[in-house]
Amino acid sequence: MRTWRFHKAGAIANLVMDEVAVPRIGQGEVLVALEYAALNPADRYLVQGQYPRAGAPPFTPGRDGAGIIVEAGQGSRFKTGDKVCVLGGGLTGVSLPGTFAGYCPVPEAWLAALPSDWTFKQAAAGALTSLTAWRALVVCGNLQPGETVLVTGASGGVGVAAVFLAKALGAQVIALSRSEEKRQQLIALGADAAIDSESPTLEKEVRAAAGDRPVSLVVEMLGGPYLEKSVRMAAPEGRIMVVGLLADLKATVTIGLLIHKNIRIEGMSVNNFKAEEARAAWTKIVDLYQRNHHCPVISEVFPFEQVQAAFAHLQAGPMGKVVVRCKR
Ligand SMILES: NC(=O)c1ccc[n+]([C@@H]2O[C@H](COP(=O)([O-])OP(=O)(O)OC[C@H]3O[C@@H](n4cnc5c(N)ncnc54)[C@H](OP(=O)(O)O)[C@@H]3O)[C@@H](O)[C@H]2O)c1
Repeated sequence: MRTWRFHKAGAIANLVMDEVAVPRIGQGEVLVALEYAALNPADRYLVQGQYPRAGAPPFTPGRDGAGIIVEAGQGSRFKTGDKVCVLGGGLTGVSLPGTFAGYCPVPEAWLAALPSDWTFKQAAAGALTSLTAWRALVVCGNLQPGETVLVTGASGGVGVAAVFLAKALGAQVIALSRSEEKRQQLIALGADAAIDSESPTLEKEVRAAAGDRPVSLVVEMLGGPYLEKSVRMAAPEGRIMVVGLLADLKATVTIGLLIHKNIRIEGMSVNNFKAEEARAAWTKIVDLYQRNHHCPVISEVFPFEQVQAAFAHLQAGPMGKVVVRCKR
């Protein structure tokens, strides 16, 4: 089968397409013939050698995927022919072989049935991002209906999932994006307001959009200078869930503000789900998508041969998820 691997940590250009034997499954695993895989910034960090507990090269990245089971061990809850998607949070594409491949051996604890009425590419696009957004909003953020949620980096994979889920859970949602076109798309997706993250009057605009319900929960995708801005925009007692670091790995925050406003800043990771928690959350997430007649948003689909171009599109700032059509 064909697979994208890096033999040495470094730039995305280090990913090369290799021809390898179809992997064998281990205890508790099933073999999935992948239809689609999806990209995450974490895959880039992993190839660059900056992701904790990553597999040793030569290594196939890819945390998201959906496909058909072609081999299941004895006693498995799955059978050959079942359509499945890989849930975010497991070790697939971290220390176990990932989904940028024709076939992937996946621990079955981290698999779910393909949601009815979803395509493979929607399922590949939706799992890790939606579970991340759910953890930020519900598990760690304790979102209550009627609250105002600010989503920074809202046009990305996690961002659009957070906008949809926060809205579906009854929040007022303010989305940030640098692109006018994507701000319009975020409004069409359900955001109550979409504001330019680079606006010099950002804080004033967010306060005006929030109205009499100030921002009480922030889903912070950017880090760097945005963290201090989030602290300023959050209401007293506000919670800031730090999900990502796209603007910078480091941030400076005015501690006086944290103390004075009693702000909680919390780092969170989808990797902290236990498998059974992730499956339970996924059931609720899919139910919300289906009840609202909504599906995960796809920015663009690339052929398997063009994984490098797919990463370039991701880095340029997508609108939703970047997906690759797998080949064997
Ligand atoms: N903690 C976890 O468990 C977890 C799980 C998944 C992802 N993450 C992290 O969360 C972050 C978001 O992931 P994602 O998949 O949503 O990313 P993404 O798809 O790449 O999208 C992020 C969005 O952020 C904006 N952006 C990117 N760089 C920016 C910059 N320098 N300044 C301002 N805006 C910028 C872009 O929007 P505009 O161009 O529209 O402004 C982009 O569309 C990443 O850091 C990722 O590693 C963490």
